[in-house]
Formats: sequence, C-alpha cells, structure tokens
Amino acid sequence: MRLDRFITSDGRLSRREASSLVRRGLVTVNGGTVRAPDFRVDPEADDVVADGRRIVWRRNTYIMLNKPAGYVSSTEKGKTVMTLLGDEAGRPGLFPCGRLDADTEGLLLITDDGALGHLLLSPRRHVEKEYLFRCDPPLGEKGFDILRSGPDLGDFTARPATAESLDGGSSGRIAVTEGKYHQIKRMVRAAGSEVTYLRRLRFGPLELDPALGAGEWRYLTEDEINSLRAAAGQK
Ligand code: URA
Repeated sequence: MRLDRFITSDGRLSRREASSLVRRGLVTVNGGTVRAPDFRVDPEADDVVADGRRIVWRRNTYIMLNKPAGYVSSTEKGKTVMTLLGDEAGRPGLFPCGRLDADTEGLLLITDDGALGHLLLSPRRHVEKEYLFRCDPPLGEKGFDILRSGPDLGDFTARPATAESLDGGSSGRIAVTEGKYHQIKRMVRAAGSEVTYLRRLRFGPLELDPALGAGEWRYLTEDEINSLRAAAGQK
C-alpha cells in the first residue's frame, strides 16, 4: 500500500495532509525518514510514524466512497465501484454495504466488517437513507404527500418517508428507512413522476463528505465508525 494512503487509514488525515507530512520529512518508516508519498509499505509489518504519531493498522476497513454514475455496486468483475479504490480493492472481504443503481451517485459505504454491514442493512434496524432527486415532470404537494405517506408499489407498500420539495417540485429530498430495489425511483413513479437524477446524501448517521469529488473516497473517522455502530445497535 502507498505510504500516504496508509497514513490516512485511521481516518485522521486527508490524503493531501498525509502527502504533505511525507514531503516535509515528518514521516519515518521503520525508523528512517521517507519523503516519497508513493513509497510502498506493508501495513502488517512496517512501523510508520507520522508527525510523532504511530499509525496503528485497523483490523477492519471502513471506506466512504462518493460513487459516480456508471459504476455497479458489486464486487464482481467489470466496471464496479471496487475499481475506484485502487490497491485498496485488493483487501480481502471488502464489499459495498448496500447497493446503489448504476446511474445513482453519492454515498456508498464499503467495508470488510460483515457483522456491522449485516446489521446496517437489516430491515429490522430501519437505518435511514437520505437522497436528493430530480424528477420530470415536477411533483406538486400532492405528489410529495404520496411520498410521505408510503405509496403502494405493487409487491409491497413503502413505509412512510420524510420528503421535502425543492425547486418548485422539480427536485426533492427524501429519507426512507428501507432499501428495496429501485425504491426511490418506484416511489417517485407512484407519486406521478420519473426520477432523472439520484444521489445518496446520508446513510444512517453518515453524511456524504462534500470534500469528496465524484469517484473519490476516504477512510471513516473513529467517530463515524462509532456512530454507525450505535445506529446498528452494536456496542
Ligand atoms: N432507490 C433507487 O431507486 N435507486 C437507488 O440507487 C437507491 C435507492
């Protein structure tokens, strides 16, 4: 793994901050100063100290990805979200926690913590997911009331949602506590419109970091991991 990436792995520093520390000669690997951010380290074996702080390798990996459109939320071969992670994708056991459609953008949690992932996705936990959508034609207040009441989608009735109209109803924010296939698109269709753009802003307590451009990712901070554990009912 690259040295600058390893330094960010406990979620305290951004990639830019980590690179800057390395270039300024403030990072040692096994006692020797290394000034190349792309220097390869073995996270299990090498002793890395950045600005006086030893980097302790986490047993599990928790990644926030700002998913761009055009990528599949899967670990299979092809143009998957995993290909956006570079050499991190090679860590065994990493999986996207929940799915976004290929044309949906925004917050995707990727982890190798199967127990936490399972709890967060459990329908019994009711972990809230919030989305921004654009739709055509615009939805009136009646349409938003349908979203809020939880429309009948044929094979199931959606649970009541929180929804707010934006830009005269041509877009909106919606928070749902379930994650059925094409859920938001189907709810908006049931309300009388079609989704033309969809972006996930929040997954439980975890908010999409506005500093992440499309396709960029970072490790979660300790606070973010703890807030997810609390949302999942984990100690
Ligand atoms: N609802 C959808 O319709 N698509 C997504 O990707 C996520 C939620």
